[in-house]
Amino acid sequence: MIKIKPVAAERLPDLLRLMPKAELHMHIEGSLEPELMFALAQRNGLAMAYPDVAALRRAYVFDDLQSFLDIYHKGTLVLRTEQDFYDMALAYLERAAADHVLHAEIFFDTQTHTGHGLSADVVINGLHRACVAGRAQFGIDSSLILCFLRHLSEREAFECLEQALPHRDKLLGVGLASSEVGHPPEKFAQVFARARQLGFRLVAHAGEEGPPAYIWSALDVLKVERIDHGVQALQDPALIARLVKDRIALTVCPLSNLKLRVFQNLAEHNLGRMLEAGIVATVNSDDPAYFGGYINQNFCQTFASLGLTAQQAYQLARNSFEASFVDATAKAAYLERLDTCFETFV
Ligand code: HPA
Ligand code: ZN
Repeated sequence: MIKIKPVAAERLPDLLRLMPKAELHMHIEGSLEPELMFALAQRNGLAMAYPDVAALRRAYVFDDLQSFLDIYHKGTLVLRTEQDFYDMALAYLERAAADHVLHAEIFFDTQTHTGHGLSADVVINGLHRACVAGRAQFGIDSSLILCFLRHLSEREAFECLEQALPHRDKLLGVGLASSEVGHPPEKFAQVFARARQLGFRLVAHAGEEGPPAYIWSALDVLKVERIDHGVQALQDPALIARLVKDRIALTVCPLSNLKLRVFQNLAEHNLGRMLEAGIVATVNSDDPAYFGGYINQNFCQTFASLGLTAQQAYQLARNSFEASFVDATAKAAYLERLDTCFETFV
């Protein structure tokens, strides 16, 4: 760990933008910008429910997770072909690379799209092709994590896993997303056990709106390696101790928490308290097209609201690489680039 020089508050945004980072919590369907949504609707001969981009953006006001998921789901209806998934993912990778994201572990789901009559093959092939192109065109590394939709049954999650298996080599892991409260992790115990046997890396959304008990069961029943969101963990001292002891990372998404009213304003966000407690917290964008910003916006706005420091910026970026699922050699190479950035920043 290098020694971090203090950085004046007005220079901090530059450092936050420039520093190498990994993004570990970003739903690719949540990166679909209104402009591209309209373009895809037109390409696919579909009508939009809003007259223009501005009207659509004005509809992006949410009360909670479910009110967001309802609008988000409508947005996915324009995705019809492999090329659509490719275009959406490549657009994200270009933006992420511009934010100095070196590595992205991207969430997607197939159940939304198979529910619209598409095959899982179309989804996975399009996204995978974009990951390959992202490396060649923008120098960004990326991999794919298939999320099961927790408002659906475990039987349906098993079908989803089955359909994905011909593409095993294109997938890094599985996760759990969608409506949290009322759908605890243990509902998916069997399918996560199966995915684990198959060698998938495991993550789950837990403790976004749901209680600390959901984080416990994601860890102890599903045996996940990271928790997505996890902001409710700070209610439970024993859980904090567990996260710290086992170095379980939380993939925190501050602008998402703000827009879905998990926190009423960013100054109330508990990211700073997580770092003080020694939790391996990271900063991520979740659904940037809907929540008003990509990863650097999440960093800059949160740092401004909480008064966080260059030392904490370094810690968060370091955590993002440590919590990633890349091998030790790649991790060391990323961390070296991070150290160089902080050593040479003036
Ligand atoms: N939580 C649960 N499901 C989701 C989210 C989220 O923040 N974003 C997209 N699907
Ligand atoms: Zn999410």
